[in-house]
Amino acid sequence: MAEDKLSKIVSLCKRRGFIFGGSEIYGGVSSIWDYGPLGSKIKKRIKDLWWKTYAEDRPDIVGLDCSIITHEDVFKASGHLDGFNDMLVDCLHCKKRFRLDKIEHVKDNIYKCECGKDIDTNVSKPRKFNLMLRTNMSAIETEPYWGYLRPETAQGIFCNFQNVLSSTYKKLPLGIAQIGKSFRNEVTGGSFIFRMKEFEQMEIEYFCAPEDSDRLYEEWVEERYSYYINKIGLKKENIMKRPHAQDELAHYARGCTDIEYLFPFGWSELEGIANRTDYDLTQHAKFSKKDLSYFDQKNNRKFIPYVIEPSAGVDRTFFAVICDAFHEEEVNGKIRTVLKLKPQLAAHCVAILPLLTNRPELVELAKKVFCDIKDKLPTQYDDTAAIGKLYRRQDEIGTPFCVTVDVDSMTDKKVTVRDRDTMKQERIEIEHLIEYINTQLKA
Ligand code: GAP
Repeated sequence: MAEDKLSKIVSLCKRRGFIFGGSEIYGGVSSIWDYGPLGSKIKKRIKDLWWKTYAEDRPDIVGLDCSIITHEDVFKASGHLDGFNDMLVDCLHCKKRFRLDKIEHVKDNIYKCECGKDIDTNVSKPRKFNLMLRTNMSAIETEPYWGYLRPETAQGIFCNFQNVLSSTYKKLPLGIAQIGKSFRNEVTGGSFIFRMKEFEQMEIEYFCAPEDSDRLYEEWVEERYSYYINKIGLKKENIMKRPHAQDELAHYARGCTDIEYLFPFGWSELEGIANRTDYDLTQHAKFSKKDLSYFDQKNNRKFIPYVIEPSAGVDRTFFAVICDAFHEEEVNGKIRTVLKLKPQLAAHCVAILPLLTNRPELVELAKKVFCDIKDKLPTQYDDTAAIGKLYRRQDEIGTPFCVTVDVDSMTDKKVTVRDRDTMKQERIEIEHLIEYINTQLKA
């Protein structure tokens, strides 16, 4: 059943131009995906909402946009070069490769493969794989100068902590927010866009005094949990907080909670919120030999700030949004597939559809309605099929309102507005169309 839902979602994403396989015409690359015309719009809306909420609307947070290619020493300091490894094991029966921590541990050295056979780690020895992707920045191939594609956006924030402080004159607590691509050489793919080699993160490093960190950590967990329900619109029953057990915590973390979503393949991580203590700034101060401490004027003291890090995945949010919105309903004996997206996240909020394309004056009126509305709400004009087909298409891509311009519109100056979820249709005066839709959006 769950697999059925997943395969339907993957197929809809391809059919309607949300997600395509990366380098697909050459056979594709495992765990690499491209966003299509509609997927890239929804993805942008997810990023814009996050950026506006945190980097623009909060006076205690500023934005940053760091480079992807990063100096090797940054990852020596952060521990990624030595410690960012997955233990991988091969199943000698089905020849598939797995992360040791993701398969069932039966007892001692015996693990269970998804093919049903046992994996004996005394025979098939687990091997370490570093997840970092490196790139040669030297012009001479035989004299390489290695740079690394960042595996998280966070390190650029730590490296710029003093630059941001001195250029903004901000005081703690201070958050630095960043959205950007990250890269990990994930060798076990699967589950569509859940685990990719190239993905996007939305991260905040929230710098604070050590004694405030426990309180702020709790506040951020609540903030991010409610954000997914109230702003992104995910159903409450599909989202949960999972605090990490003590033995699950990274050695430097004081606390960590994952926000998990009920994907078709089970509960999995959307975001992690961690209290990373002063570990990162201390490490970078040590390796760069720069002073990364903060002078607290009010209390006349100097300290290395603690950091609370809410770290979210753009692609996983996108995936959760599509899974949550995906509905199949029976209408007149047929299955209607509809994406009940929050209007603010839909690729288009409104679709303008002329009923008859062989009537130039009607097409002209429909295009005029489109021009009047497109600067106020994300709108699409579509006259490429019969109305039934256009409605089905718009339902599948999650457009909240379809506006039909018909012959009567020429005389009564009204259009038919169809609601995606209820399929109810109402006749509305063209001059009050935007007002009507805005009222519906607020309801
Ligand atoms: N700076 C902390 C950090 O990077 P993480 O738990 O490794 O923590 C944070 O990653 C978020 O980034 C995850 O919760 C997930 O949403 C996203 N993410 C991580 N690896 C990913 C991958 N291979 N593909 C897609 N998203 C990924």
